[in-house]
Amino acid sequence: MSMAPTHAPSAQHIAFIMDGNGRWAKKRLLPRAAGHAKGAAQVRQIIEACAERNVRYVTLYAFSTENWARPSDEVSALMSLFLKYLQSEVRTMRDNGIRLRVFGDRTAFSDEIQAAIALAESSTAGNDRLHLSVAANYGGRAEMIQAVQTWMAANPDATPHDFDERAIEAHLYTTDVPPPDLLIRTGGECRISNFLLWQTAYTELYFTDTLWPEFGAKSLDKALAWFATRERRFGKTSEQVSEASNPQKITSAQA
Ligand code: FPP
Repeated sequence: MSMAPTHAPSAQHIAFIMDGNGRWAKKRLLPRAAGHAKGAAQVRQIIEACAERNVRYVTLYAFSTENWARPSDEVSALMSLFLKYLQSEVRTMRDNGIRLRVFGDRTAFSDEIQAAIALAESSTAGNDRLHLSVAANYGGRAEMIQAVQTWMAANPDATPHDFDERAIEAHLYTTDVPPPDLLIRTGGECRISNFLLWQTAYTELYFTDTLWPEFGAKSLDKALAWFATRERRFGKTSEQVSEASNPQKITSAQA
């Protein structure tokens, strides 16, 4: 008698570091902004592919707190792409069950971008098929500091022992979002770059040389196939994990 198959759970939440837009453009002798424009078009494809594969949460690293230091023409190209994306995609998102949220300190953006963010968030707030979070002017360390500050302000009489993991989690942008199962970074670098530092404690990390503008549905499937081979132990032993995921396991003595 064959053993019941243990189905590796699929990724419920995928986080993406979309790197390599500049190099994609350079290879084609195009300005870096053209790489970002292609990257933005790729975002649409990947969201669609994720929705088709029943991924419920997608988080994209669109602009880090450090990206302000880039040449000003590149920063403004990224800002106008972000605005264009918010304006042009809001209806599609609303009509396709996608809830959009922006993680990060939005007060640094222009009034026009802040208004577009507010409109996109409010008009998609009732959606539940796919939760898309765009990290913009986001930094993982800043997010944690802000969470601690908010908690301390709300609990002025607390002692150090009152502070725990739940206290932080309650004040992160991701408070009602499960931690990422899979983090995909394109563009060949193997680092986290201050993205979702708290949330990626047990995330499977996938690094690929593929540049973001070339990362399509096929590349996503390759990453998901790799994810399916991972055994997620969350600090436990391999034996404990396989017992828990397959409690009715038929041993050869019983079979
Ligand atoms: C990294 O590539 C990418 C960024 C800093 C920006 C990512 C932005 C987009 C994909 C477009 C806008 C996003 C949305 C949600 C509309 P890089 O410039 O560091 O590439 P390089 O390492 O090859 O120079």
